[in-house]
Amino acid sequence: MTAEIIDGKAFAASLRTKVAAQVSLLAADSHPDGALQPGLAVVLVGEDPASQVYVRNKARQTQEVGMRSFEHRLEATTGQAELLSLVERLNRDPAVHGILVQLPLPAQIDAAAVINAIDPAKDVDGFHILNAGRLATGQDALVPCTPLGCLMMLQARFGDLSGQHAVVLGRSNIVGKPMAQLLLAANCTVTVAHSRSRDLPAICREADILVAAVGRPRMVAADWIKPGATVIDVGINRLEPEAPGGKGWLVGDVDFEAASRVAAAITPVPGGVGPMTIACLLANTLTAACRASGRAAPDLQ
Ligand code: GUN
Repeated sequence: MTAEIIDGKAFAASLRTKVAAQVSLLAADSHPDGALQPGLAVVLVGEDPASQVYVRNKARQTQEVGMRSFEHRLEATTGQAELLSLVERLNRDPAVHGILVQLPLPAQIDAAAVINAIDPAKDVDGFHILNAGRLATGQDALVPCTPLGCLMMLQARFGDLSGQHAVVLGRSNIVGKPMAQLLLAANCTVTVAHSRSRDLPAICREADILVAAVGRPRMVAADWIKPGATVIDVGINRLEPEAPGGKGWLVGDVDFEAASRVAAAITPVPGGVGPMTIACLLANTLTAACRASGRAAPDLQ
């Protein structure tokens, strides 16, 4: 069997086109409060090279869909109070509808306190405890972008996900836990497995849908996958170049070549989940802006 490649780049391009069309409608809107231009503020503390690349991509794509982008770069030595005061300023700024504080944060900063200081209505990452709680209890929430992107690709493939056995490998607040909540809400039978689970290969082999989000390069081998399963690889791991001065390359948490011979469908790395994450961030910003102005959030499915 050779798996179908799930083209996250194409999904993301299509979602961005829908977001851009809605942003144009808002710009020409005759709503009583006037036209609206959604705005996204991204805060980066320090100089982590991977985070700098993400933040640059987010800012570029935000502008490309017609939204305002606000970038705040702070020194790696920034203290908690200074970061909290920036978040509070962004909470009050009516031009800012979405706030994203890039993780990881330097060790002197309490990341949970910063995330929970963001206005939940502007929490386009969906990491605030109120949004996490709403998602867990089936209430309207801003949903974390990476799992939201995974769910959209799965729903495009399967339509109704009812009754599918989904195994989520990884239990982070950013991906694993919200992914499990979303799949549960979509009527899957969900198993969450992690580094302390006994016999991971056997658990994974039960999966109709396997979502790998562990951050370990190529950990999921072909014989962990049930023939005909759908595999979503969230991992983005940079391998060292083979020759000094050469370019490193990116691999996922799944051994892609081998897994492609067993699975029915699989996301590649790069070009799978990654592009969908940013597209979902733009979708969440649009949702937040519409709600803030008393408009209904558009359906982007
Ligand atoms: N770092 C890695 N992924 C993410 C993300 O989705 N949001 C934020 N804020 N930081 C991240």
